[in-house]
Amino acid sequence: SNMTKCEAMGASTYMEASEAVDLNWEDIGFGLVPTDYMYIMKSSPDGTFAKGELQHFGPIDLNPASGVLNYGQGLFEGLKAYRKEDGSILLFRPEENALRMRMGAERLCMPAPTVQQFVDAVKLTVLANKRWVPPTGKGSLYIRPLLMGSGAVLGLAPAPEYTFLIFVSPVGNYFKEGLAPINLIVENEFHRATPGGTGGIKTIGNYASVLKAQKIAKGKGFSDVLYLDSVNNKYLEEVSSCNVFIVKDKIISTPEIKGTILPGITRKSIIDVARDQGYQVEERLVSLEELLDADEVFCTGTAVVVSPVGSVTYRGNRVDYGNRGVGAVSQQLYSALTSLQMGLSDDKMGWTVQ
Ligand code: COI
Repeated sequence: SNMTKCEAMGASTYMEASEAVDLNWEDIGFGLVPTDYMYIMKSSPDGTFAKGELQHFGPIDLNPASGVLNYGQGLFEGLKAYRKEDGSILLFRPEENALRMRMGAERLCMPAPTVQQFVDAVKLTVLANKRWVPPTGKGSLYIRPLLMGSGAVLGLAPAPEYTFLIFVSPVGNYFKEGLAPINLIVENEFHRATPGGTGGIKTIGNYASVLKAQKIAKGKGFSDVLYLDSVNNKYLEEVSSCNVFIVKDKIISTPEIKGTILPGITRKSIIDVARDQGYQVEERLVSLEELLDADEVFCTGTAVVVSPVGSVTYRGNRVDYGNRGVGAVSQQLYSALTSLQMGLSDDKMGWTVQ
């Protein structure tokens, strides 16, 4: 057969399928494409992780009484692998995802893999699935690490066992608009997070709780929902799936991280890239008024990359930015970030990992 046997990093032996995948690379959006392998590592009774392994991608065994199913003890991460023109593969700041998972785990009373374990596991999983990394310019391999309470509980308590899992899927653009500007609605009834809550960690429950507002918004033709803070109902927080930035008189501003906003790795990278390009960038409270008065608005996230916002609607009033073209600042930052991620420009920050 055309399977080759590979020893990867001494950790696992697996049969890597080498034939080309049957996928139209021109046509991928952001939906699950099942791939060859997933990575699974369980915690020991002492709360450390050891000996993970690759398994064929597919359903997992989970105790019906598991902490994740009953009490939402779960975290996820998202990062991407890009194929360079020479065929090699680049990860973007994977240690940042590892650290964020560790922060979230602390908040949810879960043990977590070390940064080294996390990054090694990501590399192993990507290599085992490398035929699914799209050709340069056709998208990326989205990597989804999970950490969950897999041990059984009945009374409310941290689970006695945890599972770290990674699966991957090739992806293209997140929004159906592609790279065209998206239309957001400012949410006036629901909130995403509250001070003292879990808005600042990547827990699965944060994403279940925004589905209803998203569904209503999509039903009205909007791409996604922009949340306001739950105390004053006045300051921008984030969009359900990404962070938000405004541009006014060449100054870029984004809501500061204060526990209710997901500390995006793309957010943080864009702040540095923008400063490097000479922009003044402010992390602070950004009011709804400023949003409606901005010259340009854009969103950032691993999944959405840098998505220009074409309009924002608040209480039925729609504000259009520019004449529906992509704003100059978001265009410039999108190009700078993606050329770094694809290995097309000099990685002076040392953000990419082969
Ligand atoms: C990501 O951008 O990677 C995320 O985790 C957001 C998710 C809603 C797709």
